[in-house]
Amino acid sequence: MNLIAAADEAWGIGKDGGLLAHLPGDMKYFRETTQGKVVVMGRKTLESFPGGKPLKNRTNIVLTRNGAYQPEGVRVCRSREEALEALKEFPPEDVFVIGGGEIYRELLPYCSRAYVTHIFHDFKADTYLPDLDSDPDWRLSGTGERREDGGIAYEFRVYERCAGFAQ
Ligand SMILES: NC(=O)c1ccc[n+]([C@@H]2O[C@H](COP(=O)([O-])OP(=O)(O)OC[C@H]3O[C@@H](n4cnc5c(N)ncnc54)[C@H](OP(=O)(O)O)[C@@H]3O)[C@@H](O)[C@H]2O)c1
Repeated sequence: MNLIAAADEAWGIGKDGGLLAHLPGDMKYFRETTQGKVVVMGRKTLESFPGGKPLKNRTNIVLTRNGAYQPEGVRVCRSREEALEALKEFPPEDVFVIGGGEIYRELLPYCSRAYVTHIFHDFKADTYLPDLDSDPDWRLSGTGERREDGGIAYEFRVYERCAGFAQ
């Protein structure tokens, strides 16, 4: 399966429950990449979306340990194991882990490709993605052109797993 994230120079991904920057070009890339696919997220990430609503035109799988939690339009899984079982229904290449920090950490071992929007700034985040540059199981396989939104520079990077476990 895949992982998709926007991370700053320190691999920061979030602060105070929200994203670090508003980058319309990155939102478009995220939408196009995950359109029609399966997105897997933590309960806090779902709640960070406008109105706490799931993403349209995608199968939304949400992890929570709260047995009573059942928002409309999402499939809820109560453990990593339950999520991995549910994901067997889908081709692994159609599955995208979309955050946040806890879920990236827990599902990274099962991912074989990571789409990382690298933001050229350090926002002093409070939530992080594991550093794939210093992980010997991962290698950078492609980098897009440097672009800019609202004065913030970023580029699209793709990492591939080259060793270790992946589903
Ligand atoms: N830059 C990016 O690409 C990006 C993408 C997504 C999110 N974010 C940011 O990341 C932050 C949120 O990340 P986060 O780490 O705080 O939260 P999170 O990963 O979105 O959600 C954490 C929640 O997931 C549930 N959970 C975690 N592991 C579980 C397991 N094994 N089994 C069942 N449930 C499990 C728990 O929910 P319960 O507490 O309900 O049990 C936990 O509190 C926000 O700032 C958000 O904006 C950034």
